This record gives sequence, C-alpha cells and structure tokens, in this order.
Amino acid sequence: MAQTWTPNSWRQKPIQQVPDYPDLTALEAVEGRLAKFPPLVFAGEARRLKSALANVAEGRGFLLQGGDCAESFAEHGADTIRDFFRAFLQMAVVLTFGAQQPVVKVGRIAGQFAKPRSSGVEKQGDVTLPSYRGDIINGIEFTEQARVPNPERQIMAYRQSAATLNLLRAFAMGGYANLENVHQWMLGFVKDSPQAESYRKLADRISETMDFMKAIGITSENHPSLRETDFFTSHEALLLGFEQALTRVDSTSGDWYATSGHMIWIGDRTRQPDHAHVEYCRGIKNPLGLKCGPSLTADGLLELIDLLNPANEAGRLTLICRFGHDKVAEHLPRLIRAVEREGKKVVWSCDPMHGNTITLNNYKTRPFERILSEVESFFQIHRAEGSHPGGIHIEMTGNDVTECTGGARALSGDDLADRYHTHCDPRLNADQALELAFLLAERMKGGRDEKKMVVNA
Ligand code: TRP
Ligand code: MN
Repeated sequence: MAQTWTPNSWRQKPIQQVPDYPDLTALEAVEGRLAKFPPLVFAGEARRLKSALANVAEGRGFLLQGGDCAESFAEHGADTIRDFFRAFLQMAVVLTFGAQQPVVKVGRIAGQFAKPRSSGVEKQGDVTLPSYRGDIINGIEFTEQARVPNPERQIMAYRQSAATLNLLRAFAMGGYANLENVHQWMLGFVKDSPQAESYRKLADRISETMDFMKAIGITSENHPSLRETDFFTSHEALLLGFEQALTRVDSTSGDWYATSGHMIWIGDRTRQPDHAHVEYCRGIKNPLGLKCGPSLTADGLLELIDLLNPANEAGRLTLICRFGHDKVAEHLPRLIRAVEREGKKVVWSCDPMHGNTITLNNYKTRPFERILSEVESFFQIHRAEGSHPGGIHIEMTGNDVTECTGGARALSGDDLADRYHTHCDPRLNADQALELAFLLAERMKGGRDEKKMVVNA
C-alpha cells in the first residue's frame, strides 16, 4: 500500500544528485519566497497536454519534445528563444505532414536548468572543484566561488522561465506560429540545403496543400488553428526543493500539480523506485516522462509504471528511451514486450542523443548518423512489435552551433571548435534538427504506405 503523499514527502526518502548548499537557512528562505510566487503554468494546460498525449499513447499522434540540454542565464534573450521556436515549429510542420497526425509540441525550455552529473567533482590539473550542476544551482566558470551552490539562482531561474514562457505564449498565439510563416521559413531552408532536391519534394507537397486550402476558402484569418498552436514546456524535475515550492493545489480539481512546467521527467540516474524523485513525481497530476536507459530491467520498468501511473491513465506517462544506436536493438524489444503484455498505456518516445555521446578533439559530441540510426531502429522495432513509435526527444537549438558532427553540411571533428556553446551536452543545430525531421517524415510516410499495402492486400 503506497504511503500518504505530500509535496514534501520526498524529503523522507534517500536522494541522488543533491547540491551541497553551504547555507541551509538561505535555501529555506528562497524556497519560502518561491512558494509565494505565481505558478508558471496552469493546471488546465497540463490536463490539456495529458489528453493530447493520451491520443499519442493510443497511436493517434506524435510527440516532438526538444530544446537545450541546459538553459543558461548568459544566453537568455529574445533572439535565442525566437530562433529555437522557429526551428522547432519547422520540425513540427514537417513531422505533421509526414505522420499525417497531430504533433504534440513540448519544449525542453522555460525551466530546464538543473543537471545531474556523473561525478560530484570536476578536476582540472591539480584543482578539484564541485561539478557544475546547471545555472539554477551554481556557475559554470571553473572557480571556487562560481561552483558554490547559491540558492538565489533559483529566483533567477524562476524569473527567466517566466519571461521565456511569456514570449513563447505570445509567439504561439499571436501570429508568429502562423502555418504560412512556418512554411515560408522552410522554403528558405530547402533552398540553402545541400539535400535541396529531396526536401523540395516534401515542401512542394505542403505548398500545394496550403494553396488548395486557400482556394477553397480555408485561411488563417477564418481558421485560428492555422495561425495558432499549442506549445507546452517541460524539464527534468531534478531540484526537488524548487519543484516543491511551485507545487500547488488546483482549485478546480483539488489535485496537486507541478506548476514549474507542463510536463516534467525523471532522469535515468534518479529513477530508483524507493527514492525521492519518484516519490515527488507520483503525487502530482502532470504528464510525466521517465528516462529509460540500458540498466532498466523489464520488471524494474513495470514497478515504476505501477508507482507513477497506478490508474493506467493514457497520457500520464511517456517512456523516453535512450539506449544508444548500438544498444537499442538489445534493450527496447524486451521493454516493449513487458509493457504490451501487461497492457500498460504509455507513450514511447526516443531520445537518440544521450546514448550517443562521444569525445572527439576534447569535445563532447554526437555523430548525426548515430542519432538518425537510433531513431530509425526505434521505428523499425516498434513496427516489428506492433506498438506505436510515439515521439522523439532531442537536444537542439535554433542557433548555428557546431556541437554535433555530420548532417548534410558534414560538420567534422575539426569544426567543433568554431561555435561550441553548450553548457552541457552537444545539441543539434537548426539545420541538423530540420534535417532529422525531414528524414523522419520520409520514413513515416514509408511506414504508412506499407500499412496501406497490408490493408489492401
Ligand atoms: N494548430 C495546428 C497545430 O498546432 C496547425 C499549426 C499552426 C501548426 N501553426 C503551426 C503546426 C506551426 C505546426 C507548426 O498542429
Ligand atoms: Mn543532456
């Protein structure tokens, strides 16, 4: 029998990845202030996302989740947000057309600040300092002062999240997300791309569809759904004191919600069933993500599913699989079979980033071919198992960075030094992200044609 949950019941449990705050009184004071701040998101929005994800779980939609590995205070600005949103929407259009299904749009943004680390300390030469844990906790500079966890940073992160979300809401509803714009930007990309030909075909078909709609009188003026989009936010719920401070009762349902973002996820390092992160997440009603890496057993997964989604509600739980291009075939089928056998309703999503990180010329990087290869295997395996490949989860930016190798522009190991800006893991740049979407869209279309052939046979 599960014990009573409260927003702070996680404090009684063992916990991983906690920063060492030197001044606990100051930490408590900050948490007290945050607890009085307005919620960043509204429970009704989280419910709306959950029902969109329920459709994905039932095979009637696709989840696109993406954004920075870690947001940073230094790169906070309108251009960064706009460029991200533009690249993200372009991907969404391409995927909507490829899947011929609604795409649920969830950013890793407006709250993605805290990072789990494999080691608590970082060594450079003879100097050992606490690891950087994300801007919400400490500074990235390798100095003693910067690395001391500072609770005031939580206030900064809250305010940055609020400002980011404000602009995103304006973009999503205020005309920037108009399909006609999004499509126009895409034509620009197609023109410049080295793989222009194959992309142009898809872009042309979208153009034709839009022109046809216009001809029959369906325009963005008379159809708000053509100019508006639902955009949701998500982040890893790692810093539980912060999450607790923003956990609120929804007055319409009486339920508890995390109001720091619409969806939150549990990392692969903090998913122990009897530990704090699972305890916190089981009690809130938001849609949840669970990162699934190679060490997760089928029984371990079923135990977590029962804890996090005891009512087997579709849309509540998204399994974000991150095995690596060479391990996905070994691990994914056994998890799918266990989940299918037990009739558990989940969204299957593929994170092709975290299992494919290598070091090249002293840079952490990810080869584009491996990212694509993991997503392709993910699709093939789901087709073979008869389950729905429901989404992708990627680390990306709208900026022209050089962090992942490969892609149509064939970034090499020597290019990494040019514009390597990430505060944590390497991200796909805007071109690479859109290229991934195009390649996926082609595969999805292929899968649909195959299904039709089976039906017609
Ligand atoms: N409202 C629809 C949707 O969100 C169509 C749409 C409008 C759209 N603007 C978009 C789709 C931008 C993708 C990107 O799916
Ligand atoms: Mn990462």
